[in-house]
Amino acid sequence: MGPRHDSGPSALEETETAANTSTHPRFEQLTSPLRVLISDPIDEEGIKILKDAGFSVDNQPGLEKSKLANIVDQYDVLIVRGRTKVDSAIIRNSRLKIIGRAGVGLDNIDLEAAKEKRVAVLNTPSAPTTSVAELTVGLMLCLLRKIPFADHSMKDGRWIKNQLIGEELQSKKIGIIGRAGRIGNEVSRILTVGFQADVLGYDVIRPRGVPGLSYEITDSIEDLLRRCDIVTIHVPYSPQTHNLLNEARLRLMRKGSYIVNTSRGDIVEGPALLKHLKEGHLSGAGLDVFHLEPPADTWEKELVNLPDGATVVTCHIGAETRQAQKRASIEIAERIKAESQRVTPAL
Ligand SMILES: NC(=O)c1ccc[n+]([C@@H]2O[C@H](COP(=O)([O-])OP(=O)(O)OC[C@H]3O[C@@H](n4cnc5c(N)ncnc54)[C@H](O)[C@@H]3O)[C@@H](O)[C@H]2O)c1
Repeated sequence: MGPRHDSGPSALEETETAANTSTHPRFEQLTSPLRVLISDPIDEEGIKILKDAGFSVDNQPGLEKSKLANIVDQYDVLIVRGRTKVDSAIIRNSRLKIIGRAGVGLDNIDLEAAKEKRVAVLNTPSAPTTSVAELTVGLMLCLLRKIPFADHSMKDGRWIKNQLIGEELQSKKIGIIGRAGRIGNEVSRILTVGFQADVLGYDVIRPRGVPGLSYEITDSIEDLLRRCDIVTIHVPYSPQTHNLLNEARLRLMRKGSYIVNTSRGDIVEGPALLKHLKEGHLSGAGLDVFHLEPPADTWEKELVNLPDGATVVTCHIGAETRQAQKRASIEIAERIKAESQRVTPAL
């Protein structure tokens, strides 16, 4: 995973398996009611579920790290989003049995330390699917119609209609890398049903077929790259997907094609992407994720600031919708309830 600066969703990626690595927590040592500390803002709905289930909930969104370290030993369950760093010291000095991440990525939680201390780590991998898929399609529309560029131009007092001839999504050949996954599948559904786009997929596993949807799959990533007008990436970050779209593969993309990345910055070789955009081989890139967040390297700042709408950039807002946050809060509360009941049915 690439280094990160911010508190946004993480990069040890959105795997359900990562959240299920714990062995059985020692619930037999617990007293009722279980004490839950929430150290990042989560939707009220999840808090209500926990309270109704009899948990004692201490909601302290924005809790400072030093304060967390001082009080964590009073709680059985800790709920965080991406902001709170749950490092090995916090875990070792606690009596936590469950750490709940309202969201997907787990790179703000020391999973090794959690495993060692037999702390269950739970997350909500399905919560952001619709939000990320919709942002992905939004970035495509922004690129094809240069919507942010048109907006800036008008606000600068320029009426440059003739420079803003765009493209339609309908009938475009769109390649989805990670087609069998949650977000890849939803992007495919939106594009096929809503836009009558011609979707082509690539994945390391074969997607389940959805009746009425296009699910043409290529045997190689290279084949997909050569055939598409727009390529969008929906794979987790891992050593295998680091620079998955490297200089050589980006070169295979059609001249004038577009790329969208809402997965993780380092899945695309950033400096190579910049080069292909500057040389005009690629027409545009829609990016919600970066090597560093916020970008700090010269090349990445240049990428963000390319002129004439060549890049459309958002600050890792894929999951930042009210609906996704609410789902995450409800899902994490339900998972914590289930996990605690699994081992201590009497609680
Ligand atoms: N921008 C955001 O705020 C935001 C929010 C949530 C998720 N995400 C990103 O979206 C990614 C996808 O999420 P998801 O819920 O769809 O995950 P998922 O696990 O449901 O799907 C990932 C898919 O990628 C496939 N895959 C893995 N390695 C591959 C490879 N080398 N080549 C081709 N396919 C490969 C898997 O087989 C799987 O089908 C996440 O890993 C995360 O990086 C971003």
